[in-house]
Amino acid sequence: MPDLSGQVCIVTGSTKGIGRAIAEALADAGAHVVVSARTERDVSETAGALARRGFGSILGVRCDVRRPADCDRLVARTVERFGRLDVLVNNAGVGYFAPVDEMSVEDWKSQIETNLDGAFCCARAAAPHMKRGGGGWIINIGSLAGRNAFAGGCAYNASKFGLIGLTEAMMLDLRYDNIRVSVIMPGSVNTEFRGREVAPENAWMLQPEDVARAVLDLVAYPANAHVSRVEMRPSQPPRK
Ligand SMILES: NC(=O)c1ccc[n+]([C@@H]2O[C@H](COP(=O)([O-])OP(=O)(O)OC[C@H]3O[C@@H](n4cnc5c(N)ncnc54)[C@H](OP(=O)(O)O)[C@@H]3O)[C@@H](O)[C@H]2O)c1
Repeated sequence: MPDLSGQVCIVTGSTKGIGRAIAEALADAGAHVVVSARTERDVSETAGALARRGFGSILGVRCDVRRPADCDRLVARTVERFGRLDVLVNNAGVGYFAPVDEMSVEDWKSQIETNLDGAFCCARAAAPHMKRGGGGWIINIGSLAGRNAFAGGCAYNASKFGLIGLTEAMMLDLRYDNIRVSVIMPGSVNTEFRGREVAPENAWMLQPEDVARAVLDLVAYPANAHVSRVEMRPSQPPRK
């Protein structure tokens, strides 16, 4: 595990599932971690639980990434408290699935605003502070759905395909400022995403901790090396 003592990390959507596992892993590696999501009570509970693990300092900030002002505030509160920002993990995401002619405009917008606009707004707010601090990491949690379209996935696929384009363009914008931008693209992960249950029969799926491990692996690379895209999948999904 890398030693992230003194590093300051924001994880969006970090009260549950993959985001929470990433926040826990960063905290266990010694980082100061900012946890955030829309539900205030979950943010407080998660921040308290992480603080009790006893490593770096933990800050909880309520943030709906669909609101640009919330993204600005998330980054501003982080820099006020810790004086710097080293790692931003854009993890907050939702998925509503329906054929294109049954997808409501509201659900379309909510997915694009959360999964794509949110990552842009948080990165836009974070990059100047990373530049000032001499560099950093922006890690976007994409999906294999950002490469493989499927029926019913019009909004989710569009948001995750878009996130790959955003990642690659930001990588080129920021590389000479020593900011490395990457996308991690998991297949099925055992979380409550889409109202699923976390259940023992889902042990074949990737676990949230597997994705967290990929985040720690990325930030452990020396400054000359940049792993820009990570595809992850369950090694033995049920045979069809
Ligand atoms: N699970 C999978 O199979 C899978 C596979 C590939 C990729 N992914 C991606 O991984 C990421 C995390 O998914 P997950 O499975 O861990 O989902 P999850 O268990 O449903 O957790 C989602 C987290 O995001 C927060 N969130 C949702 N909307 C938000 C918003 N507008 N602003 C801020 N926070 C928000 C939720 O808290 P609140 O509701 O309180 O805001 C929660 O903390 C997503 O980007 C997803 O697309 C998931």
